[in-house]
Amino acid sequence: MKDKYHPQKLLPHLKYPEYPVMIDFDITNVCNNKCPKCIGIAGRDNTTMKLENVINVLNQTREVGAKGLILSGGGDPTCHPDFDKVMQHAHKIGFDYGINTNGNYISDSVLKEMMNCWTARISLDGSNRGERLITHGVDDYDKVVNNIKRIVDKKEKTNSGIDIIVTYLIGDKTKNGILPVTKMLKDIGVNEVRFRPFFGKKMMNEKDLQKAVLESDKDKNFVVSYPDYRINPKEKRDYTECLMTNFLCSITPDQHVRPCCILKERGYSYGSLEDKSFKDIWKNKYKVTSFKDCEFPCPHDNNNDFLWAIKQMKVTNII
Ligand SMILES: C[S@@+](CC[C@H](N)C(=O)[O-])C[C@H]1O[C@@H](n2cnc3c(N)ncnc32)[C@H](O)[C@@H]1O
Ligand code: SF4
Ligand code: SF4
Repeated sequence: MKDKYHPQKLLPHLKYPEYPVMIDFDITNVCNNKCPKCIGIAGRDNTTMKLENVINVLNQTREVGAKGLILSGGGDPTCHPDFDKVMQHAHKIGFDYGINTNGNYISDSVLKEMMNCWTARISLDGSNRGERLITHGVDDYDKVVNNIKRIVDKKEKTNSGIDIIVTYLIGDKTKNGILPVTKMLKDIGVNEVRFRPFFGKKMMNEKDLQKAVLESDKDKNFVVSYPDYRINPKEKRDYTECLMTNFLCSITPDQHVRPCCILKERGYSYGSLEDKSFKDIWKNKYKVTSFKDCEFPCPHDNNNDFLWAIKQMKVTNII
């Protein structure tokens, strides 16, 4: 099949998923921030996976065919004592990987390894010290902005292909920071600013979001994005099975393999790598057909719509 992205290539995954394409991997639940609205488990559990077990997870998932990897949390991956070695190994065995961090602590060795990432997402969630203190519970705004500058600087010096994305959650206390933060981050030289509302909330301050997008129209190396579907959210799901869980899974520091980054905190597990291989766990995984513990819309809602359309054969060749 010539077309690399032909939908028919997705069909076997919808029926007989042999392996996940993407692994969302939390190596630690420890975090150095205290976000009051954290969707992770930070502050409630301090489990950290030993380096040898992390390596085992990376090797097993890569061997079955997984290609993409997100090192996130849980807590914050930078709080893992061997985070640099984890990234080094992921790169060595051929993962395309990205990291999500609050940006508070980036050691020199972590900064060096980061340059092999395809993306680093830094959650800033405020346009000044006071707003950051409200959303992240610590007074580290200046430190984080300085770390973002260090990442940009290192990217330029090493000619790395890393995409530097800053994320910003919009709520009552942060909705007025959209334009100042966009200008500041554009000047620093990040690749993208991504705005989103907190889960369960509607997107606010659409006018400023539209003005912020104009900043990206003026500069092809700078993108400002926000999900349209959070402005006019749908009322209900049209799919009756989560097909995205055939393409990804979440692995937590206690070695459990779980359906996704939302359900990982809500008691869902396919099994533990402590007593089974990844291959066996994946072979016997269950389908997610009840959405009672899911967010709506969850981050994979658009993809689920698309996959559902392919499964119903409503899409023939649109990608
Ligand atoms: C749980 S954090 C873990 C990674 C890292 N500690 C961080 O904060 O970026 C993963 C993502 O969840 C987002 N997040 C946390 N709480 C949220 C909430 N209440 N609503 C929407 N997104 C949230 C963060 O902004 C971050 O992008
Ligand atoms: S930085 Fe990330 S993991 Fe830590 S408390 Fe905030 S959202 Fe949770
Ligand atoms: S939260 Fe989203 S990705 Fe996770 S199982 Fe539910 S529908 Fe699927």
